[in-house]
Amino acid sequence: MIKLTNIQKIYNPKKANEFEALKGINIEIEEGEMVAVIGKSGAGKSTLLHILACIDNYQNGEYHIDDTLVKKISEKQYAQIRNEKIGLVMQDFALVEDFTTIENVMIPLSFSKKKIKNKKEIAFKALNAVGIEELAKKPVNKLSGGQKQRVAIARAIVNEPSMILADEPTGALDTKTGQEIIQLFKDLNEQGKTIIIVTHDPKIAEQCDRIIEISDGNIIGN
Ligand SMILES: Nc1ncnc2c1ncn2[C@@H]1O[C@H](COP(=O)(O)OP(=O)(O)OP(=O)(O)O)[C@@H](O)[C@H]1O
Ligand SMILES: [Mg+2]
Repeated sequence: MIKLTNIQKIYNPKKANEFEALKGINIEIEEGEMVAVIGKSGAGKSTLLHILACIDNYQNGEYHIDDTLVKKISEKQYAQIRNEKIGLVMQDFALVEDFTTIENVMIPLSFSKKKIKNKKEIAFKALNAVGIEELAKKPVNKLSGGQKQRVAIARAIVNEPSMILADEPTGALDTKTGQEIIQLFKDLNEQGKTIIIVTHDPKIAEQCDRIIEISDGNIIGN
């Protein structure tokens, strides 16, 4: 279970351009839920997702995953939680453009603490799960937007995380491709993964179990 208690995020603290992006957020998400996070541009959706994904720290409050307090004590601790529990699909895919598909998907495996022998096989399994095994050897700069989104999802699931976080995973896609991507998340959710999706699209949000709405750094609907 994920529990956020009074989470406050301030960008550039104590500087002239200080900005309070999250103003004391309280959220509980159970294991196996599929949740949408909605809100206007600038509301704080990505900020929230980055804290949940342990790629950004917060100033006040507490973030628990199960019974572990997640606070940036060290980069190493954050990296370990990311690697074991979290699959993140970034707003702009964040793929290595001149790597092939399979090379991109294998990246998280090289960061794992465990010694993994059959990296290629594991990466192929992830590609298979998102339906793009045949693109394994293609450089990602030759792929379409929908295909890149699938590579990003394959990379997010390759370490078998218990939760998958996605920032506007359908934002750059046409309606049909977007729906295929959402179906992928639904399938992963059926397999027991917790899914949290940031979206602008009401049609995507209403396919989730629950909608969390953010406005100006506050939760206004949950
Ligand atoms: N690195 C940063 N430094 C300073 N301010 C930031 C930084 N990142 C975000 N902000 C500010 O925090 C607020 C929330 O930004 P955030 O990216 O979380 O919004 P969002 O809801 O994801 O918007 P969008 O829908 O456009 O992606 C915005 O006002 C933004 O300008
Ligand atoms: Mg955003």
